[in-house]
Amino acid sequence: MTSNEFVEAIAIDGPAASGKTTVGQMLADRLGYLLLDTGSMYRAVTWAVLRGGVSPADERAVTELAKTIQLDIEPPGNVGDGRLYTVLVDGHDVTWQIRSSEVDVNVSQVSAFKGVRHELVKRQRAIADRGSVVVVGRDIGTVVLPDAPLKLYIVASPEERARRRWAETMDRTGDASYDRILDDMIRRDQYDGHREHSPMRPADDSIIIDTTDRQPESVVSSILALDYFKKREAPGQ
Ligand code: CDP
Repeated sequence: MTSNEFVEAIAIDGPAASGKTTVGQMLADRLGYLLLDTGSMYRAVTWAVLRGGVSPADERAVTELAKTIQLDIEPPGNVGDGRLYTVLVDGHDVTWQIRSSEVDVNVSQVSAFKGVRHELVKRQRAIADRGSVVVVGRDIGTVVLPDAPLKLYIVASPEERARRRWAETMDRTGDASYDRILDDMIRRDQYDGHREHSPMRPADDSIIIDTTDRQPESVVSSILALDYFKKREAPGQ
């Protein structure tokens, strides 16, 4: 990866429901970039594991599945149900299935396997190498794209994050439990932050942004006001 503006990738990491995908999509729209939400890839593998009746604890079988499934992330087209992208597993549209509470409960365990990460990181880098992409996840600034010229780490209080995920889920399905969402988020953050391989953490050169009590538009404006973008607009200054 170079810092050439035509082949660059922006890395965004942070805990569950911190607003990183919303902000990442808005930033991508403003810059004319693609959004790559790597969480959707780990979720898709988890969905395939559960669908196939594989135990999420069976490292060998889960890793084998991660290597063999056909995983595609496509623009949403004119589906119009609020999706930011369409996720296909072996040709099936699983965009909303990967957001189920069953996937929430199992995704961290599946994501902790070294072989699963190896496989998905390979696919993520292949997409990011094409450039002009905002890549969102947990280990983008530390492992997937350590040379990314801009790294953001987006956080918010657990209660605010649970409230956002609750509102989102209610909107979409009409059924959600705040307490269950909060518990799941805290458990996942704990697991993701303490796993052996690629634990969630800010890279040393990340800019940390707290989105508690802030609207996404205001967060995006402050990102676009960073020195990094000023330098890009005025090369040589
Ligand atoms: O949307 P939310 O923040 O709830 O989660 P997500 O970004 O869809 O990620 C779901 C899970 O995938 C996380 O809890 C991690 O276990 C895993 N993940 C990961 O390990 N590495 C990434 N780069 C992205 C997600």
